[in-house]
Amino acid sequence: MDNRRCLTGLIRDVPDWPTAGVVFKDITPLLADPAGFNAAVVELTRLAPAEVDVVVGMEARGFIFGAPVAMALGAGFVPVRKPGKLPREVVEQEFALEYGTDRLTMHADALQPGARVLIVDDILATGGTVAATAALVQALDAEVVGVAVLMELAFLGARQRLAEQGIDIDPVLVVEG
Ligand code: PRP
Ligand code: MG
Repeated sequence: MDNRRCLTGLIRDVPDWPTAGVVFKDITPLLADPAGFNAAVVELTRLAPAEVDVVVGMEARGFIFGAPVAMALGAGFVPVRKPGKLPREVVEQEFALEYGTDRLTMHADALQPGARVLIVDDILATGGTVAATAALVQALDAEVVGVAVLMELAFLGARQRLAEQGIDIDPVLVVEG
């Protein structure tokens, strides 16, 4: 079986979670499967452009994939965290949720100016998490050279919206409906 079919079968749909009408994409069966987890990291790593200095992964699920991708690329890893978790000076970015807003933070000295950054996360849904992360990278004068996600929920249209802002996203898997 090819990697993509194997991966799709390991991501479980959970209807009406966390709220009614939402179908949650549960990656825990994939993480628990040695071949599946390895295939996910291999496919994400294949999406990386040349000469990545740093992988940036977002709390929490972006850590799970971002760290092994960084090791495979010989790059460093920088965490983007939810507020109140990082001890030193941070840059902060607010973004919209379906109801209300949330914030993400990164250490203000985490990236060198001009660093070539690959953003890695599990799911692209509305795109708010990726857009906020790209803004944090750019606030430190580093360059987003790629965004690799395991699964894009294409019906939400985030890839097109972000492309218009100059952020190009490469998904391993695309869910159309
Ligand atoms: C989830 C997922 C992505 C994000 C995608 O993170 O892991 O990071 O939502 O949604 P978006 O494209 O609409 O921003 P979440 O913060 O919900 O949970 P996590 O801490 O388990 O990663
Ligand atoms: Mg997340």
